[in-house]
Amino acid sequence: MKRLVIVSNRVPAAGTPQAGGLVVALSGLLRERKGLWFGWSDALAERPDAEPRIVDRQGVSCAMIDLTPDEHRKYYLGFANGVLWPLMHILPSVVRFQPQELETYRAVNDRFAAALTGLLRKDDLVWVQDYQLLAMPAALRARKVANPIGFFLHIPFPPPVVAAISEGLLGLVRDVLAADLIGFQTAADAEHFAQTAAQYAGARRVGKLVLKVDGRTVRLGVFPVEIDAREFAHQTDAAMRRRPAQDLAHNLRDRLLVLGVDRLDPSKGLVERLTAFRQFLAAEPGWHRRVSLLQIAAKSREGVQAYRTLLREMEKITGATNGAYAEPDWTPLKLVTQGSQRATVSSYMRHARVGLVTPLRDGMNLVAKEYVAAQDPEDPGVLVLSRFAGAATQLDAAIQVNPYDPDQIAQALSRALAMPLAERKQRWLGLWDVIKDKTALAWGEAFTDALEGRKAGAPSTARPKAAAKTTRAKSAAPKKAVSKASSREGSPIGPNGLH
Ligand code: G6P
Repeated sequence: MKRLVIVSNRVPAAGTPQAGGLVVALSGLLRERKGLWFGWSDALAERPDAEPRIVDRQGVSCAMIDLTPDEHRKYYLGFANGVLWPLMHILPSVVRFQPQELETYRAVNDRFAAALTGLLRKDDLVWVQDYQLLAMPAALRARKVANPIGFFLHIPFPPPVVAAISEGLLGLVRDVLAADLIGFQTAADAEHFAQTAAQYAGARRVGKLVLKVDGRTVRLGVFPVEIDAREFAHQTDAAMRRRPAQDLAHNLRDRLLVLGVDRLDPSKGLVERLTAFRQFLAAEPGWHRRVSLLQIAAKSREGVQAYRTLLREMEKITGATNGAYAEPDWTPLKLVTQGSQRATVSSYMRHARVGLVTPLRDGMNLVAKEYVAAQDPEDPGVLVLSRFAGAATQLDAAIQVNPYDPDQIAQALSRALAMPLAERKQRWLGLWDVIKDKTALAWGEAFTDALEGRKAGAPSTARPKAAAKTTRAKSAAPKKAVSKASSREGSPIGPNGLH
């Protein structure tokens, strides 16, 4: 088995407790292959060493380099999160171009490539992760690295007309084409990328998912990220016996909980969601005192202006909503901006009658899958899901909504709260059926197998090699038992395990 080298902006954090499912899965893959994880140390230094530091993190060998404060500002806060992130989520009005950021982004990718090259062996498979490192494949090839290189984009890829808003992004499309296999979350993302590559980056389409660039073949693939659904369900069972879950139940008394769990991010549709809740309260006085919304929006990327502005806006809506409707013993809306333990959040998910997952756009959104996995099969909650989350391509039995339209979200919330148990169970079974046999490790193996050429074709249908047995919900839902509002169309490496 070839050694695997994973490259991502962040490496797993020191200590274990907050690691997200994907970090755990990739670590598992690396332990299996005695591999190496390469990335930024999370530290800033005025004069970083050129040589990476090698440390052991949970049995995985990690090679890390520091960034300078200037690199961090222009590469991470600047081009990666001030331009690429909003553009790829089709939020051009949030994009802020600043001088030299693209150059610094490229320089950091090049420094990563330089530091990694010395560690590579002839037979290694190299797997680069995500939008922070789009220039890495070309930077490695420029250093004569001939190993197979895979790239996976965890976030969406926009249509060509949106990608073209940044000439920098178009250039990076050209760079990422130096990889042999490029993976996406959904077929729509792969299609948008193929169109952009053909229109702006000199690629020729020779198949739906095959491009030719300078005589080389580049394969595209669809690999929706998964969670370990059964494992998550078991963890939730355990979390329900702990203090935070019991405290929440006590505070709720007999009120129904509506829950949102996100990073505080402009792509998550948080303003529209809170506005929807306010509209719901205005339209449905019958639900007053009987329902509360808990919105966890963990602060992130605070160095980016748009994130700070968003927080202020959310605080304003929260204040106005509670100002208008709160009573001495009822707070309709609670906004929490601290990150919480994953296990605690899973118990909140179990308690929640409705899970509101309404990003304006999202690569996958693993919270949607976790919410399904956390439910009690005998009394499941209802998932209200954005049509524009990658997860919507798989989770047909959710109530799907247009996340830009607060009125639709408010109506979906009413419908979900009033939904009879039989329909809740039927919908939940439809959702559980989709995720129950998947694992994050199988997702990683499907990609690396495809990179090694072991499985050609569409890996998105790949089944996990072994699924743990469980007594949960033995019966599968009849396919298409529930009509869906519409059919359309993570991450995973966030420091606090949020996606
Ligand atoms: C989320 C996204 C990932 C991204 C990560 C970066 O998890 O889904 O695609 O790589 O954020 O988080 P960071 O905290 O490093 O900006």
